[in-house]
Amino acid sequence: MIEAREGVIEYLEIEGQKTLEGVVEISGAKNSALPDMAATLLTDEQVILENVPYLLDVSTMKSLLKHIGIDILELDRGVFAFMPGKPDSLEAPYELVSKMRASILVLGPMLARFRQAKVALPGGCSIGTRPVDLHLQALEKMGAKITVEHGYIQAVAPEGLKGAYIHFPKITVTGTENILMAASLAEGETVIKNAAREPEVVDLAMMLKKMGALIEGEGTDTIVIKGVKKLKGTVHRIIPDRIEAGTFAVLSALTGGKIVLKNYPFGYLTFVNQVLEKIGATVVPVGENQAVIKTEGNLRPVDIETKEYPFFPTDLQAQFMTLLSVVDGSSRIRENIFENRFMHVPELKRLGADIHVEGRDAFIKGVKKLTGAQVKATDLRASAAMVIAGLIAEGTTRIYDIYHLDRGYENIDSKLRLLGAKISRGIEEIN
Ligand code: UD1
Repeated sequence: MIEAREGVIEYLEIEGQKTLEGVVEISGAKNSALPDMAATLLTDEQVILENVPYLLDVSTMKSLLKHIGIDILELDRGVFAFMPGKPDSLEAPYELVSKMRASILVLGPMLARFRQAKVALPGGCSIGTRPVDLHLQALEKMGAKITVEHGYIQAVAPEGLKGAYIHFPKITVTGTENILMAASLAEGETVIKNAAREPEVVDLAMMLKKMGALIEGEGTDTIVIKGVKKLKGTVHRIIPDRIEAGTFAVLSALTGGKIVLKNYPFGYLTFVNQVLEKIGATVVPVGENQAVIKTEGNLRPVDIETKEYPFFPTDLQAQFMTLLSVVDGSSRIRENIFENRFMHVPELKRLGADIHVEGRDAFIKGVKKLTGAQVKATDLRASAAMVIAGLIAEGTTRIYDIYHLDRGYENIDSKLRLLGAKISRGIEEIN
């Protein structure tokens, strides 16, 4: 990663169509690391997290926790000790929240443990409006008094949070996680209906249980939490990143399946594996926790619809669109989770893809090949889609705004270089 400097813009340059083969190791999940780190706020004892990925979003969460008063020590590669002291500040400032929406995850734990919290309102975001109203309504049901003023969420619960019946009108991943954490230290029982079932929610529940929380039903749409007075420290290992795994699976399918995926979380990717199978790419287990993607003959077009877990993740939509853009025939992708998550379409078109969008649907007509061009990484997962596109395109592709990539993909350039990719970073002066 090149350090951000004013007046310069960083880009990634890829020379496409190199033979890719070898082993790639899947890192710890960003979307588990972030809530698990926030959960360290719930105890006054030390928590050790293992398999923590080195990502910009994880660094932002570290800065946020340090700001609140947690000491963080790197014990080994990917192993961090979180040592809570007396909180310096019960505030998540705008500079940090504006870098990462998931900063909202500190709201529930801070409010539950310290009875007050001030968190900057996460701003707009390129993939949609992404409000946090459901988080706030649920915390209000638990007795919090919340005001939103001057761009900050001010929340207090002088008597402590109380258990409540919370029925989310829409499934929300971080919303479920925020309430799971808050309810663990609330007085009485909380029932979360229409809860998110994502593996990352289950992972957080497992960690909280090791800390002494009383939780049942994680992984289903109804979670019941009986609040306890105190949570203790623990050691917990972050689960593998199913989105990173799915991203490399797409690349493997596109390059004839010579890439071995180490730490492939089969259990979390059942639906995605079925979609790959329909396209003509079979995910075959090799050894322990390893997979290769086998392809035979031509890949086939498919219709995909994004939907909450256990169905097709919105976070793999852009990468699969790149894949389908070179699969002969007509495919369709419907995006049901975020209203504006087709920002990668114009960029893929710059590389020669034939795609048109109507509302929530993208219609993709496979082209013979993509050709290198200059493109923008418009959000985190779109940037991964651009990298895949650059790797299979003829000629050179230059991707701008790649800080998005560093938010969620650990060492992606070196992982790809190990597979034989020609990929480098550079900077350009902005006039
Ligand atoms: C999490 C993931 C993100 C993934 C997304 C959907 C983390 C850190 N991030 O984001 O990678 O793309 O799930 O799988 O885990 N909504 C509201 N009001 C709210 C909350 C959400 O209307 O208060 C809407 C959102 O705008 C969106 C939908 O609900 O349309 C789902 O969003 P949500 O599950 O909350 O996404 P995140 O938790 O932010």
